[in-house]
Amino acid sequence: MARNLASQLEKHLPSESLRLVRTAGELASGIGVALYLVGGAVRDLLLGESNFDIDLVVEGDAPALANLLAERLGGKVVTHRRFGTAKFTSADLSIDLATARAESYEHPGALPTVRPSSIRSDLSRRDFTINAMAVHLNPHDFGTPVDPFGGEADLARKLIRVLHEKSFCDDATRMLRAIRYEQRFDFHLEASTEELLRRDLSMLHTISGDRTRHELELILKEENPEKPLGRAAKLGILERIHPSLSGDGWLARSFQRARAMSCPVPLGLGFSLLAYHFGRQQADDLIARLRMPKATAHIVQDTLRLKEKLDSLDAPGLMPSAVHQLLKDYSPTSVAACAVASDSPATIQRLQLYLNRLRYVRTSLNGTDLQAMGVPPGPRLGRILRRLHGAKLDRKVKTREEEMRLVRLWLSEEG
Ligand code: CTP
Repeated sequence: MARNLASQLEKHLPSESLRLVRTAGELASGIGVALYLVGGAVRDLLLGESNFDIDLVVEGDAPALANLLAERLGGKVVTHRRFGTAKFTSADLSIDLATARAESYEHPGALPTVRPSSIRSDLSRRDFTINAMAVHLNPHDFGTPVDPFGGEADLARKLIRVLHEKSFCDDATRMLRAIRYEQRFDFHLEASTEELLRRDLSMLHTISGDRTRHELELILKEENPEKPLGRAAKLGILERIHPSLSGDGWLARSFQRARAMSCPVPLGLGFSLLAYHFGRQQADDLIARLRMPKATAHIVQDTLRLKEKLDSLDAPGLMPSAVHQLLKDYSPTSVAACAVASDSPATIQRLQLYLNRLRYVRTSLNGTDLQAMGVPPGPRLGRILRRLHGAKLDRKVKTREEEMRLVRLWLSEEG
């Protein structure tokens, strides 16, 4: 990559980011260190796509440079001295700065041991050629690219290529990353990279639940998660994460429907669709394997519980209050997951009625109001409130006055 990328930087970086990287470059030169833009931002710059994630690498002390930047521009710095990293945050943006580092892995799947190094070795520890490029930011060579592994050529050939033969052994999360980029950009795994991935599939077991889940979450946050998921299934990646996971046509259709219903699709909904055809035990195994946070696990489990009850939502003539009664104890995301997954128009319509209206319905009168109307505190008051809520759900009453009239009628009937 011979040309200078200054004009691309000027064109594609938002103006505040451009101002910030120029200032950072000047400050770096002032203390005699080299500064680079690295990773996804460089890749996206060359693709002509916007990327607001600014990652900088310093051949020197990154926390020190971050502090200088905060002194000059105002802003906050959080540093991790041990890792030689810093996050600079100002009113309108935040950037990550890292000391150029080399890494070694004590055993497959371990987090790497790091030591300060040059930009070249920093790039050589990265996942794919297209993510292993940098651009100089110091004023005297602003925009000069650094591309030791042919990343730009691979961008042009639309290839995802690892840097060395042991890449997936060192870090098997790269298998999920590889297909995420492949499907996002409509690229292909380079032939020997695909072979290495297939060879090293068993290394997925070395990855912790948190890291595996994080990569799945990144996939679920893609515009079309069904594409990487389908590819991950074909390559045998999903079944290594859990033997019952599949990325079939049902899943693709469900993600399309989910987007039509709610865009973006929440993570809990994505995981619920992934686990929709699981039994309860299988779901618990997946939850444990991915160390799902309680809230997400709850949504997945709720979805499977509700799935078993969906038949009752198909009954003809079901009143809104009955729909509410059936669904009120399930998380709204699990109700949405079942609406996406169900094939019955009546069921879907009721699930959506609940999501869009019923779950928000409240009575105007509360316990204090009922007491003022002469109902003493106790179980009877609770029963009247629930009955009134039902009447409101079924639109038998609309206004506060109508609620009062109905309650008075019930009280007179009770005598
Ligand atoms: N990286 C890596 N191996 C990983 C994770 C990250 O080599 N397992 C490197 C890559 O150079 C990547 C950079 O760290 O470009 C930043 O990682 P991340 O923010 O996850 O990805 P981006 O490249 O910014 O891509 P995305 O558009 O997905 O955010």
